[in-house]
Amino acid sequence: MIELNGAVSNYVQLSGKRYSFFSGNNYLGLSNHPEIKQAAKNSIETYGLNFAAARQTTGTSIIHLQLEKELSAFKNKEDTVVFASGYLGNSILLHALKDQYTDIFTDEAGHPSIFDGIPRDSRQIHFYKHGNVEHLEDLLRKNKDRRALIITDGIFALTGDIGPIDEIHSLAEKYRALLVVDDAHATGVLGENGQGTPEFFHLQDVPGIYQTETMSKALGVYGGFISADSIIINRIRESSRAYLASTSLPPPIVSAASTAVKLIIQQPRLRSGLLQKARELREGVVKLGFFTNEAPTPIIPVFFNSRDKARNLSGYLKENGIIVPCINYPVNMNKFMVRMTVSVNHSSDQIAELLNTLKRWRSEYGVT
Ligand SMILES: Cc1ncc(COP(=O)(O)O)c(C=O)c1O
Repeated sequence: MIELNGAVSNYVQLSGKRYSFFSGNNYLGLSNHPEIKQAAKNSIETYGLNFAAARQTTGTSIIHLQLEKELSAFKNKEDTVVFASGYLGNSILLHALKDQYTDIFTDEAGHPSIFDGIPRDSRQIHFYKHGNVEHLEDLLRKNKDRRALIITDGIFALTGDIGPIDEIHSLAEKYRALLVVDDAHATGVLGENGQGTPEFFHLQDVPGIYQTETMSKALGVYGGFISADSIIINRIRESSRAYLASTSLPPPIVSAASTAVKLIIQQPRLRSGLLQKARELREGVVKLGFFTNEAPTPIIPVFFNSRDKARNLSGYLKENGIIVPCINYPVNMNKFMVRMTVSVNHSSDQIAELLNTLKRWRSEYGVT
């Protein structure tokens, strides 16, 4: 763990020293954006820190309703509900849909919030091998008399690869399954309008695909949201325990998120700039002979088959003024990684410096 003593940007301060920072999920550099911070400050002046009530009692303000409208416009969906954290989104949606499925099919490398969000009853859970649509189909075929819901990450949080949503959607149609995409890392990043993984695969207007999303990554703020047809959003508002029994999002967060959504809509260059920076870093990493993913995402891991090697690289980078954390692979595949993430604010020089440091490490320790 590192202890920050300043804001997160493409550089950070640790114990009085400045480090180049290729970690976290502040993809569009919005977590320290002046306009967004000003919106939060103004909101505190007007509304204070907290409405101190749940949404359905006295915790709904005009700024919550405005944010939900803005998110619906951004996502081109009928309605939106915002809530306390992205982590809750899968639980909220899986509960709201629970009359429509008996079995859940989910990627073995999925985010913990998916597994934790599955309603605790007699529902069957089937894990398919990571990204493996043949295995998924096999499981669906064996359970074809059941009512299926498939849930997968859009961009996988640690490995940065993209779930094969196009192929999974074809299977969902074939086996009349619902499809849920946890798009925490893809919101504001993938697709022509930043609407996420379904848009990346040109499936954004297809009925039967739901997304769970967060405002804590590319949007740089905090809180979760679901944009969908008004029937499902009303069901969440009327029956979700996590929504009904928790305090509404704080005013500075709501106002900051509104400004972040506006910037994401108005400045598509943030997204194209980010993807360009991700390409630069990924191409450099591949050229150096390291093993990484091939997806066009801002998460660029370097995989190792030894924990010591991954730790060694992370430590070496830190000694050379660069923060990149070492992370255990999320499923038991004997793989370890350093997880680099890129932001639109990284300069090409900063990326070149990271690549040069990787190159020096490689000549000292080899790649494997
Ligand atoms: C795939 C995925 N889903 C959900 C979440 C939870 O989002 P939040 O951190 O905004 O609660 C995360 C964040 O870590 C994530 O990576």
